[in-house]
Amino acid sequence: MGNYKIAVIPGDGIGKEIVPVGVKVLEAVASISNFSLSFTDFPWGAGYYKNHGLFLPKDGLEVLKQFDAIYFGAVGLPEIDDTLPAMSYTFKIRNSFQQYVNYRPVRLFPGLKSPIAAKEQKDIDFVVVRENNEGEFVQAGKILYPGAPNGLAIDTSIFTRSGIEKIAHFSFKLAQKRRKKVTNVTKSNTLVHSLVFWDMIIGEVAQQYPDVAYEKVYVDNAAASFVLRPERFDVIVTTNLIGDILSDLGGAIMGSLGLGGSGNINPENEFPSMFEPIHGSAPDIAGKGIANPIGAIWSGAIMLDHLGELQASGKIVSGIEEALLSGIKPVDLGGSASTDQIGEAIIKRILSDKKVAN
Ligand code: NAI
Ligand code: MG
Repeated sequence: MGNYKIAVIPGDGIGKEIVPVGVKVLEAVASISNFSLSFTDFPWGAGYYKNHGLFLPKDGLEVLKQFDAIYFGAVGLPEIDDTLPAMSYTFKIRNSFQQYVNYRPVRLFPGLKSPIAAKEQKDIDFVVVRENNEGEFVQAGKILYPGAPNGLAIDTSIFTRSGIEKIAHFSFKLAQKRRKKVTNVTKSNTLVHSLVFWDMIIGEVAQQYPDVAYEKVYVDNAAASFVLRPERFDVIVTTNLIGDILSDLGGAIMGSLGLGGSGNINPENEFPSMFEPIHGSAPDIAGKGIANPIGAIWSGAIMLDHLGELQASGKIVSGIEEALLSGIKPVDLGGSASTDQIGEAIIKRILSDKKVAN
């Protein structure tokens, strides 16, 4: 019987509300599976920074290396400089642990109406694979003489052949397990160095997967397709910045940002991977008990999938589907169910003896 050690980092704001519900869902599914999960909580994030001057302690990364996976909420507080959360926490873990894949599925759950009303469940089911370690977010740059008339600022994007090859191979292998199509979302018509290089290398890798259809689409056109023709997508491979923006759009066409789950994945398993909802700490609704926990719960399912517990992962996704079909709705989807009530409804379905459909 496998035992997985999971580091739990709720973070700030609604992270503290949705992550405990996600942990309860994971405990429920483990209780009826042949593996166990042991959770260890860490109080890190912007709140921790207020008291300790750091988002995570000096030995934080060493501590996390002992775990099989990291289950994370979100970091950031309105009173803390908002350039710090990414730099001091999220990017630090993603980069130190070589989590170069940001896996972000987008699908319309049964029982939910997409704002794109004519679309059905079968039309909205794709994954955004966002390159997670380099590109536009390397934070290589400088602000010079900010107050002076000759003040200037530079941010340099960095793309490496090995980084692009790795994300491309992950995407084509993923497509082989899905509907066998990869769309490279790019902007090489204007970013004529970095993204021409990106396209060239993705195209080289595409030739090694003749069974997978390959297309290249510019991001402006892709954004329109998210709304007008989402059924054209199966696996989207894209850069760090483009993937960040498009996956929030993905959350929106699912019905709410609160629904989106994700994994920051180190496919080689040299380091623990980290699983988190796609949204942030939502200070506007924090403390009210109304945050939608489904993105966090789905992230738990993606975590179990990564750990090889496919059946248990499927049970969580079915639990989400059945709970939504029963009519329970969180506040962001126009309903009135609290964070805890949504969690309980999903746990009830997971624990019910009924054989779950896929
Ligand atoms: P946000 O994702 O926290 O919120 C955007 C909007 O979506 C808000 O109106 C919020 O109420 C709503 N929303 C988000 N999640 C929801 C949920 N589960 N249920 C119901 N409604 C939900 O983005 P925002 O406002 O731009 O950022 C807030 C803070 O979060 C900032 O400090 C930011 O830096 C941080 N952040 C952290 C991330 C991370 O830790 N990975 C990612 C994105 C933002
Ligand atoms: Mg984002």
